Amino acid sequence: MIDVTKFGKVAVVCGGFSTEREVSLNSGKAVLNALLSKGVDAHQFDPKQTDISKLREFDRVFNVLHGTFGEDGGLQGVLDGFNIPYTGSGVLASAIAMDKFRCRLIWQGFNLPNVPYVVLHDDSDFAAVEQQFGLPLFVKPAAEGSSVGVTMVENAGDLAKIYPTLKQYHGAILAEKAITGGEYACALVGGEALPSIRIIPTGKFYDYEAKYLRDDTTYQCPSDLTSEQEREMGELAKKAFDALGGRGWARVDFLKSDDGTLYLLEINTVPGMTDHSLVPMAAQARGVGFADLCVQILAQTLTA
Ligand SMILES: Nc1ncnc2c1ncn2[C@@H]1O[C@H](COP(=O)(O)OP(=O)(O)O)[C@@H](O)[C@H]1O
Ligand SMILES: [Mg+2]
Repeated sequence: MIDVTKFGKVAVVCGGFSTEREVSLNSGKAVLNALLSKGVDAHQFDPKQTDISKLREFDRVFNVLHGTFGEDGGLQGVLDGFNIPYTGSGVLASAIAMDKFRCRLIWQGFNLPNVPYVVLHDDSDFAAVEQQFGLPLFVKPAAEGSSVGVTMVENAGDLAKIYPTLKQYHGAILAEKAITGGEYACALVGGEALPSIRIIPTGKFYDYEAKYLRDDTTYQCPSDLTSEQEREMGELAKKAFDALGGRGWARVDFLKSDDGTLYLLEINTVPGMTDHSLVPMAAQARGVGFADLCVQILAQTLTA
């Protein structure tokens, strides 16, 4: 049992300014209540409401600020400057994980299996990209989240039409081969891979609606992977995280091709933490309840 008084005064940082503000507020509320239920002196802290300098009044931070500033290394840099320990990855791993293109360059360097992709430019031969990957293919901004801007291109000639609409978003624009044998998430907590979760959306893919608005997405945990594939996914997730120099906890997302090959899709360094989010679901499959999971993640800041 961890002595929770060791944590001192804890800020649960959530909300913020990104498109994921509402989701983050939900994560924050769930984590706050969980920590309070364990006797932790925890307080909600929303950088949109309170000046960030006020974080100096806290002993440590549980960070559930998804997206811009919270997940991209910005907050991490501020907290490093204040000398306040925080949950999750540091500046470098956070910043790289936020940019799917740069993240993949690093994974390529470690020979880890990326989804086949190209970076699109104004003068790209869009028809040739459609030929190369076949249809449907996926196109997406490299530095967004929550499926914002992610588009499935189904008809020949559409890539050239969709490309300009994605320039409003952050990061490079990627075109990717569609990998259609299943979508999975693998949670990492304290260096350990938790049981994988299979995500089965009702629509064509796991879009914003399926993530947050619809309640008909199926989540299987334990998933349908063979024990060999499960082991392989856990190992790949750990390698992908280590390649970035990640710390603490994360969720690594995968796609499986029809022939069973696993591909890294992306990594989230501040995953959702509502009580029906995926990391808590995976922890539950190991018999670790939500409040214990929150304490376990926070406890990583005692040694960080
Ligand atoms: N190459 C791909 N093949 C098949 N499905 C994809 C592919 N890329 C994205 N998707 C679908 O789009 C969703 C969102 O894409 P993702 O790259 O994870 O962006 P985000 O960071 O916004 O979650 C995925 O969860 C998956 O359902
Ligand atoms: Mg995703």
